[in-house]
Amino acid sequence: MAIRPILTAPDPRLKAVSEPVAKVDGEVRTLIEDMIETMYDADGIGLAAIQVGQPKRILVLDIDQRDGKKNPQAFINPVITWASEEMAVAEEGCLSIPEIWDEVERPARIKAEYLDRDGKKQTLEADGLLATCLQHEMDHLEGILFVDHLSKLKRSMAMKKLQKAKKLKAAG
Ligand code: NI
Repeated sequence: MAIRPILTAPDPRLKAVSEPVAKVDGEVRTLIEDMIETMYDADGIGLAAIQVGQPKRILVLDIDQRDGKKNPQAFINPVITWASEEMAVAEEGCLSIPEIWDEVERPARIKAEYLDRDGKKQTLEADGLLATCLQHEMDHLEGILFVDHLSKLKRSMAMKKLQKAKKLKAAG
């Protein structure tokens, strides 16, 4: 396993639409292992492959990592098959947009299909944090960042704040 560098906005690669995985092989499983390690190293709860520069429809999540317990989940070629009309607002952040948090409205409940690490088809019904995270990470597969859901004004404020934080980091 290896920690891979995480791309940060406005890196144009984050706007790429990721390609479906044709075969769940050793290379894909290695990428997933690396993504999980990278996610934990960055204190994140989710990561899409494009965030480590791989335009593949793969994401990893761990929304249960409390009290030192780890429960990483991998989703390959995930598709939302149903979304509730009911919406929910949750505060989101992103490892590719460090130090920026804002409220995003999304469907409250979703159903999804995906392949697991063994290449087996799985279905899932999600609400709460899992629904938020899955939709956030699946957006990455389409080249969409959570700030793209904000108003133009809020987005430009967020990007300015990010640039400032990056400059400070480079300086210090
Ligand atoms: Ni993100």
